[in-house]
Amino acid sequence: MKTAIIYLSKHGTTKKVAGMIEARMVSDEVTMIDLKKNKKPDLSSFDRIIIGSSVYLGVAKKHFREFCTDNYVSLFAVKEVGLFLCGMEPDKKKQQEEMERSFPEELRRHSKVRGFMGGEFLFEEMNFLERMIVRKISNASASISAINKDAIDLFVKKMMS
Ligand SMILES: Cc1cc2nc3c(=O)[nH]c(=O)nc-3n(C[C@H](O)[C@H](O)[C@H](O)COP(=O)(O)O)c2cc1C
Repeated sequence: MKTAIIYLSKHGTTKKVAGMIEARMVSDEVTMIDLKKNKKPDLSSFDRIIIGSSVYLGVAKKHFREFCTDNYVSLFAVKEVGLFLCGMEPDKKKQQEEMERSFPEELRRHSKVRGFMGGEFLFEEMNFLERMIVRKISNASASISAINKDAIDLFVKKMMS
């Protein structure tokens, strides 16, 4: 299968998770697409498309949400679509709400698999404002990694089934 993994990452965690998904999809021919560098990728040649972003203040960045709506036709033409988010929200219900805010409903319905992969707080990558926000919304005061490898395993297993 020809698979594209398309991601938008600010501090590198979603990129890392996209790489972990790629490493598990050994039987596929995988192309990695960084939406920061390639804003309008051609999706026509893929059988599977996996799209992922990080969450900031409850939702994926506008540029990512616009990518999803701008590429509706191509995404619906693809047989299998997987959606994932990276974030530090621990509450399952709130993770679901972040999913609903970040991906259009029709795309969520069309997708084969959806996953919330956890994330990281990388203080050394954050600007002053981000550090202030993170200290307010969490108890973290130093970098912490909470990437959910089980969620990634399950996501890939379901995607490949
Ligand atoms: C300013 C700021 C706000 C954040 N807000 C949220 C949030 O509302 N929900 C959430 O799940 N994660 C939130 N996070 C955590 C990020 O999603 C997490 O750091 C993620 O791993 C970043 O991935 P990236 O480096 O690929 O952008 C926030 C992080 C920062 C720095």
